[in-house]
Amino acid sequence: MKILVINGPNLNMLGIREREIYGERSYAELCAFIEGACAEEGAECSIFQSNHEGAIVDRIQAAFGTEDAIVINPAAYTHTSVAILDALRAVALPAVEVHLSRLAEREDFRRVSYTSLACEKTIDGLGFEGYRAAIRYLTRERKEK
Ligand code: DQA
Repeated sequence: MKILVINGPNLNMLGIREREIYGERSYAELCAFIEGACAEEGAECSIFQSNHEGAIVDRIQAAFGTEDAIVINPAAYTHTSVAILDALRAVALPAVEVHLSRLAEREDFRRVSYTSLACEKTIDGLGFEGYRAAIRYLTRERKEK
């Protein structure tokens, strides 16, 4: 199984940005964690990060016919982007939304997620482990259903 993992704006600043919320570990450490979690499940993975909405839309479209599933942390675009929602719906691949922080415990505007409307599941508040849970869901639990 080929999994595309997409990380949205400012996630490249992990370890620097708001460490009390997002933790001390860097984006490079997150990528190594994701690669390890995919390897554990025997899945191939491709990781993409962008601060630009259109670039994320382009990468989702490029997954059509080449990748089997998507794990996406759209970051701030979660709460605003109809374009990313439409792209996820267009390719219609099984997708899971992940957030490092627990959205319900933060500002009210973070409670709205456009992108989750195209995802089978949303996992938040588990830090890096949320990515492992999303990968496991796509590689194991979903198949067992
Ligand atoms: C985030 C939560 C978003 O609200 C925020 O804009 C982010 C990161 C998370 O992983 O907790 O940039 O997606």
